[in-house]
Amino acid sequence: MELLEQVKSTVDIVRVVGEYMRLKRASPQRYQGLCPFHTEKTPSFSVYVDKQRYKCFGCGESGDVVKFIQEIQGLTFWESLKFLAEQNGIPVPRRSDLSDPEAKLRGALYRMHEITGQVYHAALYDPNGAVARDYLGKRGLTQAQADEFGLGYSDPGGNVLARKFQSEGFTPEQMNQSGLVRRRDDGSFYDAFRGRLMFAIHNESGKIVAFAGRALKDGDEPKYINSQGTPIYEKRKLLYNLHRARKTIQKQERSVLVEGYMDVIGVHSAGVQEVVASCGTALTDDHVHTLRRHAPNIVLNLDPDAAGAGATERLIEALLRGNMKLRIIELEDGLDPDEYAKAHGASAYQAKVDKAMEYYAWLTNRIRGTYGSSAEARMRGFKEILYPKLKLVADRLERAAIAHEAAAYLGLDVGLVLEEVRKAPVEKGPAAAQRTAIPNLSANERILIYTILKSADAAESVLPHLRERGIEGFLARPIFEAVLAAGAGHAPTLEEVEARLDDRNRAALHDVVFADDIEDGMSDVERAHACLAAIGELDTESRRAEVRQKIKEAERSGNLDEALRWTRELQRMRSV
Ligand code: UTP
Ligand code: MN
Repeated sequence: MELLEQVKSTVDIVRVVGEYMRLKRASPQRYQGLCPFHTEKTPSFSVYVDKQRYKCFGCGESGDVVKFIQEIQGLTFWESLKFLAEQNGIPVPRRSDLSDPEAKLRGALYRMHEITGQVYHAALYDPNGAVARDYLGKRGLTQAQADEFGLGYSDPGGNVLARKFQSEGFTPEQMNQSGLVRRRDDGSFYDAFRGRLMFAIHNESGKIVAFAGRALKDGDEPKYINSQGTPIYEKRKLLYNLHRARKTIQKQERSVLVEGYMDVIGVHSAGVQEVVASCGTALTDDHVHTLRRHAPNIVLNLDPDAAGAGATERLIEALLRGNMKLRIIELEDGLDPDEYAKAHGASAYQAKVDKAMEYYAWLTNRIRGTYGSSAEARMRGFKEILYPKLKLVADRLERAAIAHEAAAYLGLDVGLVLEEVRKAPVEKGPAAAQRTAIPNLSANERILIYTILKSADAAESVLPHLRERGIEGFLARPIFEAVLAAGAGHAPTLEEVEARLDDRNRAALHDVVFADDIEDGMSDVERAHACLAAIGELDTESRRAEVRQKIKEAERSGNLDEALRWTRELQRMRSV
C-alpha cells in the first residue's frame, strides 16, 4: 500500500476538504463546517489537522482524505487514490487501472471526454471552424473566453470522434456508453454532436464529463443538445461552472444562479465569478445541497420570461427548504444576464448582484401585480403566495419580521398577518427535522453570546448586568449559565464555555460562534447592552401575549373567575 501512504503523507486533508465546502478554523488542530454528507444547520463536521481525518457528529461519517474523495465524488477507493495522486503529481503505478470493471469504464469515459474536449476545441481554430468562430464573434466572445471555457466546434461530417476513439483502442461498449458517439445498426459509429458550438461541462473537481452543443443558426432546433446521463455524469447533481466558481463562492459567501451557459460565461466575464447554472434541467435538491456546502447565500438571476414566475416560486421554496438565504435580481427591459452585462457593463451588473432584492420583496411585488387592490384580494395573495414560503422559515423571529415587512408593504393589518403566521407550524423538511435537535435561540440572544465571546470589553461590561437581571426567560439558558459560570472574574473564552455544555448545546454554541461577523456600526460594548435591553422588552412582550392568550382561553371555556384573574395580571404587568 505504498501509494496510499504516499498520498496520505503528501496531501493535506484540510486543503482537499476545503475545496468542497466552507471550513472555519475552530481551534489550532480543528476545522469545522456544515456536513457535506447530510443536511444540517449547525456545523457538526470537523476536520482534524493532527489526525488528518474528518468526522461528523451528526451523521457519523468519518475517514481520511481518500475516504472523503470516495464519498463526495462517488468514486471507488482506487479511483479516489488515483485522483489525489494525479492532482498532486504523485506517479501512479499502471496496474491500478486493472481495478473493478465499473471503475475501468468510468476511467475510459473520463479519458474519452478529455480527448473530445481537445478535438472540439482544436476544431474551433481549423479552417472548417470558421462558422463557429464567426458565431462567437457575433456574440461578442473573445478567443480568451473560448479558451478559458473550453468552447469548441463539433465537425459537421460526423465521424471524427468515432474514428479517434477506435484508433485509441476504446471498446464498442465504452464508446456506446459515452454518449459522444452513436452506434448504427451495422455496428459502426457516428458522432452524436455535429456542426454545433460546443460547451464543455466539468464536474466539481474539474474533469470534463459532458457537453452541450448550441445550434449556430437561428431557428435550428433544438437550440441546445445536451449529453445524456452517463456513469460519470448525473444531471441531477451537476452544476455548470461549479469547478471554476467554487473558490469565489466560498470567498464571497454566495453563489449566483443563472439559466444559460451563455449567461454563465457573460456573468463570469463581468467579474461575478461565483456564477453557476444547471444544465438544461430544473434545480434539484441535490443542486441546492451542493451549493449550500459552499455558501449559505444565493442570488437568483433567471431569464425574465423563460422560467416564468411560477417556476421561480417553486425554486424559492426549494431553496428555503434547503436552508438557503436567497435574493432575486430582476433586470430591466427583459434582458437576460448575459445581455445585460454586455449592454450596461460589468460594474452595472455587479451592482445589480450586490443590490439584489430579498425574495419576499419579490413575492410581495408579485402579489401586488397579480391580485386585486382590495384588502381581501391582497390578503388572499399573502396567503396563497407568501404564506407557503414563510412556513419554511424555521426561525420564528425571522418569520415574524418578514411577515411584518410584507404586511406593511401590502397595506395589510400587521396584527392580522402576524397572527396568521404565528399559527403556522414550521414545515418539516429533512433540514427542519435536524434543526429541532438544536435549542432555538433568538437573534438577540445569539448576538449577545457572540459579542460576549468576541470581546472581553463587552463581556466585562455586560456580564454584571446579566448576572443581576437573571437568565430565567432565556431560550438559550444553558449556554448563558455556562457563560456566567465561565465568566466569573474574567471574560470567558470559547473553550471554557464549551467545556460546560452538553453536545446539543455545544452544537448551538458553535452555530452562534460560526455566524458571520456583525456589522451594525455599534461597538461591541454598545451592542451587548442593546441586545440585553431588547431581550428584556421582548420578554415582557411575549409574557403579555401569553397572558392575553390565557384570558381568551378562560373566556372561551366560560371560566370567568380565571379570566378576571389573568386580566388583573395583565393590568399589573402594564403598570410596571
Ligand atoms: P437559453 O435559450 O436562454 O440559452 O436557455 P442561453 O444559454 O442563454 O443561450 P443564448 O444566449 O440564447 O444563446 C437556457 C438554458 O436552457 C437549456 C440550456 O442549459 C440553456 O443554457 N436549454 C435551452 C436546453 O437544454 N435546450 C434547449 O433547447 C434550450
Ligand atoms: Mn438565455
